[in-house]
Amino acid sequence: MSIAKKIYINRHFNAIIVLGCGSMGRRRKRKLKKKVKKFLIMFLITTIIIIISTATYKNISKKSPSKEKTIVIKKNTSFKDKIKKECKKISYCNNKYIDRYYKYYKNNKKLSINDIITRVNLGLDYDFYTHTRKAKDLNKDYILVNKYSYLEEDYIPNNLEIIPEEYARSGMRLVKNAKDAFVAMAREARKDKRPIIAMSSYRSYKYQVNLFEKYKEADGIKDADTYSARAGFSEHQTGLCVDIYDGVLDYTNFEQSDSFDWMQKNAYKYGFILRFPEGKENITGYQYESWHYRYVGKDIAKYIHNNDITFEEYYIQKIDKNN
Ligand code: DAL
Ligand code: ZN
Repeated sequence: MSIAKKIYINRHFNAIIVLGCGSMGRRRKRKLKKKVKKFLIMFLITTIIIIISTATYKNISKKSPSKEKTIVIKKNTSFKDKIKKECKKISYCNNKYIDRYYKYYKNNKKLSINDIITRVNLGLDYDFYTHTRKAKDLNKDYILVNKYSYLEEDYIPNNLEIIPEEYARSGMRLVKNAKDAFVAMAREARKDKRPIIAMSSYRSYKYQVNLFEKYKEADGIKDADTYSARAGFSEHQTGLCVDIYDGVLDYTNFEQSDSFDWMQKNAYKYGFILRFPEGKENITGYQYESWHYRYVGKDIAKYIHNNDITFEEYYIQKIDKNN
């Protein structure tokens, strides 16, 4: 502070104090003067400090974008931490996919952690047919064949048997377990006057090549992919699935038949499931097919029926836990 300013402040204080204490003794006056001076100086200093601090804080807040960033980072970290924590509790969670789980979560925030893990384990975070692997569990009722899991050209299932012509078009074959179950189911359905007839069952790799080519030529590959499997990726090659109709309506209208209602109520009791249900297209990779049934055995079929899940979900959560 300059000397001129100091003198000005002193005079100013003296003037105020003199005005307020005209009739006091000299000593008391001096003491009081001193006290008031001290108080005013302290008050001034405190005010200055407060003003400077407020201005500095405002300035820092305006300049620093890191506050917003920190929150995002915290959010990220906490979700990854959450997955890591949950992962220990979920038997089919795989630690090596944590980054993929997190990436999938960012685009599908409404899904549960279980759904995220299931879908990533299935490979659904990659486009269809881009990350494929050989199917495991060959010749098992619970083999998974889909757009990520394929059969080789020379794969022919063991124990293929012909379905009797009362219940099928001529020459239709299924793996023995599936065939026996199908015949038992078709017999019962017929007794209830709800006939079911197999119109397509086991298909060889070569057959599927020609079928898919035909569809591709007719509709283009994009549309064909929604309703037909590419060769090697069709579960018809497992000998465990069958397309049915009621003997009257075209198979594509099977949903409108009474036989379809019968299948909805009873198929699982014989070990069959509706393989490509409505509303699950993004998991199965195919449009709804009311006519396509897959044999998985009674226990699995019952579980899938009761829990209203797809075979893909069952396979990840119950069979291929280590992925
Ligand atoms: N229509 C089923 C998806 C297949 O071609 O195997
Ligand atoms: Zn089919």
